[in-house]
Amino acid sequence: MYYPEEIIEEVRSRNDIVDIISGYVKLQKKGSSYFGLCPFHNEKSPSFSVSPGKQMYYCFGCGAGGNVITFLMEYENYTFSEALKVLADRSGVELPKEDASKEARAREEVRATLLKINKQAANYFYWQLHNNPQGQAGYQYFKNRKLTDETMKRFGLGFANKTSDDLYQYMKAQGYDDLILKETGLFTIEERGAHDKFWNRVMFPIMDVNNRVIGFGGRVMGDGTPKYLNSPETKIFDKSRNLYGLNYARTSREKYLLVCEGYMDVIALHQEGFTNAVASLGTALTSQHANLLKRYTDKVVLTYDSDGAGIRAALRAIPILKAVGISTKVLNMEPYKDPDEFMKNLGAEEFRRRIETARNSFLFEIDVLKKNYSMQDPEQKTEFHNKVAMKLLEFTEALERDNYMQAVSREYFINYEDLKRLVNRLGNQPGLIRAEQEETVKEERRRQKREKEDGIRKSQRLLLTWLIEEESLFDKIEGVITADDFLEPLYHQVAKMVFEGHRDGTLNPAAILNHFINDEDQYREAAALFHAALGESLDNEEQKKAFSETVKKVKQNSLDHASRNVKDIGELQDVIRQQAALKNLHISLD
Ligand code: GTP
Ligand code: MN
Repeated sequence: MYYPEEIIEEVRSRNDIVDIISGYVKLQKKGSSYFGLCPFHNEKSPSFSVSPGKQMYYCFGCGAGGNVITFLMEYENYTFSEALKVLADRSGVELPKEDASKEARAREEVRATLLKINKQAANYFYWQLHNNPQGQAGYQYFKNRKLTDETMKRFGLGFANKTSDDLYQYMKAQGYDDLILKETGLFTIEERGAHDKFWNRVMFPIMDVNNRVIGFGGRVMGDGTPKYLNSPETKIFDKSRNLYGLNYARTSREKYLLVCEGYMDVIALHQEGFTNAVASLGTALTSQHANLLKRYTDKVVLTYDSDGAGIRAALRAIPILKAVGISTKVLNMEPYKDPDEFMKNLGAEEFRRRIETARNSFLFEIDVLKKNYSMQDPEQKTEFHNKVAMKLLEFTEALERDNYMQAVSREYFINYEDLKRLVNRLGNQPGLIRAEQEETVKEERRRQKREKEDGIRKSQRLLLTWLIEEESLFDKIEGVITADDFLEPLYHQVAKMVFEGHRDGTLNPAAILNHFINDEDQYREAAALFHAALGESLDNEEQKKAFSETVKKVKQNSLDHASRNVKDIGELQDVIRQQAALKNLHISLD
């Protein structure tokens, strides 16, 4: 952050959040808060709340949340400094010109400039498609592929003409120097001269979740190679952290996302009303993609190509999605190759049916496995049964494994009792537990550890949320909990400010949020702390009962941590004394 904290806070506090948001969203007062339809996702009943007391907004539907500055950043796609400038102007605060960290400022400026150039390039390509006579070829290409004008507009599709340096000249005329132009990845700039990277291709601008153009894909209009040319990774373009179409898909009403392979697939699906489709950017799905998806859904339907490569890609994606807790199904596209072709031939209604009957990812894996064996040959059939049984052993939960055994028995006509015996026998032969299986066991341990950590995180989050919601609770935890008991780094940072604010009588949620504005993940999560989710609020009897337990859990975990890090026997004794005291602790809220 390169504006002094006091300035940011002054700008923030001079702009009332209800005032600002009312300009965008119709708000209605309910109790101490205002409610309206969330501008960040599609909804029919209002779950978007604005709290004048906390000077924050929060959506109980999609989890969007923040203060007045982040609202403008998200709604208007402003950078932090743009949002700050608008708000400063509006409230008559003069922003300082120079800043403390020149480096941070320079970095931010480069990023902002790269975004601006990309946006101008997208406009240029768009203009070429519609206004340059050469662009006709591109326009016709899209028309032949059955894209409507509306779709072309929505995805900002464009055209790079045959002149090999016109975009470069255009950018030079806008006053950009070679140094920054080189960083956009849109040009090759050498001593011999400068050239546009994209040339005689139809253009697909790639947008991040905030609708900012971060790169391009360009397709030849026929059979040339390479079929697609994509922007290289730059300071603003990270292929493994962005998904094509997510800017629209994230506001879709569906509870699941469709993940496909190509730009054209996404576009064809959106055009037919499947606005929940996304694609990775010409790369395999990564765990960062999976984490990104997890922010919006825990259900994915893979709509990969039906060819060998598509099947392999699906087999690779399934465990990656599983690892972050996403459950996956695989759509059967046969007899067509990809969603785009499918849509043209069988239409949306049939596609919707295919979504409904999409294959559970485990059964899909078995389907693929089965293709390697001939069921006519007793030896191969036995081998297949053994492989299936080994795979069933991957489920460590007895009930879940049994559900899958039943499904497998039904689907592949294997006698259930026999299958069960086989699974149990193999499971009891330690020699048979192979490397991959050990991997699964390890994965299961990791999962359990994650779950435990999630539980601890949740306790810390709840306790912090309650303290913010009801300051009188500080009296109840006096002498038991301090800010240092919140071990999760983000919560610890927030807790320090919350405890300090409480002590000085200046507890100010929206101001605390200023500290996290540079990182969208962080401010969203911090914002969530200031709004108890439905059913988590302390006016709920269950939660009142849970208060004492939650305090204990947080303290217990903190003491466990301390006991592992004691420096001498005195400290250890102190921890043990506190652990004993904790056993007898009971806090009543009545
Ligand atoms: P169409 O063939 O026009 O229908 O496009 P598609 O989107 O169906 O593409 P396809 O399934 O062939 O490929 C999936 C994705 O992989 C594309 O959207 C690109 O992102 C990427 N891709 C395809 N071909 C190439 C290539 O030649 N080079 C690079 N770098 N990426 C490619
Ligand atoms: Mn295609």
